Amino acid sequence: MTPGRAGQPSVVLVGAHGYGRGHLERLACLHAAGRLRLIGVADPRPLDAAQRALAGAAVHHRDPAALIATVEPDLVVIATPVHTHVDLALLALRAGAHVLLEKPPAPTLDGFTRLLAAQRDTGRVCQVGFQAFGSAAVGELARQIRAGVLGQVRHIGVTGLWWRDDGYWSRSAWAGRRWLDGRPVNDGALTNPFAHGVALALRLDGSGGDQPIGEVELDTYRTRAAEAHDTASARVRTALGTPVTVAVTLCAPEPVEPVVEVFGSAGTAVLRYTEDRLCTPAGDSTHPRTDLVENLLDHLADPEVPLLVPLADTLAFTQVAEAVHRSPAPVAVAQDSLADLPALTRRVATTGRLYRELGVGWARAEAYRWTPPPPPPTG
Ligand SMILES: NC(=O)c1ccc[n+]([C@@H]2O[C@H](COP(=O)([O-])OP(=O)(O)OC[C@H]3O[C@@H](n4cnc5c(N)ncnc54)[C@H](O)[C@@H]3O)[C@@H](O)[C@H]2O)c1
Repeated sequence: MTPGRAGQPSVVLVGAHGYGRGHLERLACLHAAGRLRLIGVADPRPLDAAQRALAGAAVHHRDPAALIATVEPDLVVIATPVHTHVDLALLALRAGAHVLLEKPPAPTLDGFTRLLAAQRDTGRVCQVGFQAFGSAAVGELARQIRAGVLGQVRHIGVTGLWWRDDGYWSRSAWAGRRWLDGRPVNDGALTNPFAHGVALALRLDGSGGDQPIGEVELDTYRTRAAEAHDTASARVRTALGTPVTVAVTLCAPEPVEPVVEVFGSAGTAVLRYTEDRLCTPAGDSTHPRTDLVENLLDHLADPEVPLLVPLADTLAFTQVAEAVHRSPAPVAVAQDSLADLPALTRRVATTGRLYRELGVGWARAEAYRWTPPPPPPTG
């Protein structure tokens, strides 16, 4: 990496309200610690007093393109609505910057493929904001799987039981949208709030490369006026043949933190990724986390330091997102008909059957099945 003129890499944050506020706080800390220089913040909305204080001498501009062209940052951190990710990340890469891009990296496979091509062409680094991948609990679980602590992995399950009220779905124009202004958004429980769990389960299976997914089956439901699903199950067959089943809802009145479970012939591992907690036949443990911006900077300074979430490694997740994008509109369900949702959700994850296959009255979505297109030719 070419360091910024003052020695430390220079950074622009794009998207400073919403989740970007946390990035601003973190970047301000790293700036104060001398790890980087925060030189710009782009957001069409003005910064409030607290944001201006955090930004310090960094320039605020409404337009990311104008700001990036003017200040030529080494790194751009992007925390904007999902349907803007691809264009903004392409802009940053083509301006010669490395990128930390919030999850999900792209709403569909088409955007993802263009982004990956640009990242490879430019030779820049792109890290995706799946922060749970920075948890040492994930590394430890992967190590135990490789060491055979669980025996042969037979099945991976993900359950997510959160509650999101109407305010969540109306917080911004893109929330809960499948499309906005003719562009795919692909928001929804599987593709956004629980994206971490989906992506983690697929990474733990270890099916990487350019065709990590064999097939996706899913059923999706919505209890709200929003067009996207808030409750869904998906069964993924990975390239290694492992069934990965996911059941998630944003309609659980008594929320439970999400769980990734790896079912092996010799035992089960339970990963509570939001809490960095791991429970396996080898024992229970809580682990530290590595910050993804710091990891990216460490990787740039020393390529021997592995990048924790390279864009290419999020292909499997994006293939699942593509299946969601292509699937029919979610089936409308009355919230009060979702009796036994916690138990049903758990049954999906443990049995590998979708909600629609459990014989419950409300789960009437048609079966939807998606297989990925062949990967583009390389070279
Ligand atoms: N990693 C996580 O756990 C996590 C959690 C929440 C959100 N996110 C991600 O963060 C991103 C933002 O989500 P949010 O809920 O904060 O959205 P939001 O709509 O609340 O905020 C987005 C911000 O981006 C700004 N913005 C919009 N278009 C822009 C543009 N073209 N250039 C510059 N700024 C622009 C908006 O003004 C706003 O400040 C999404 O990708 C979301 O998936 C990640």
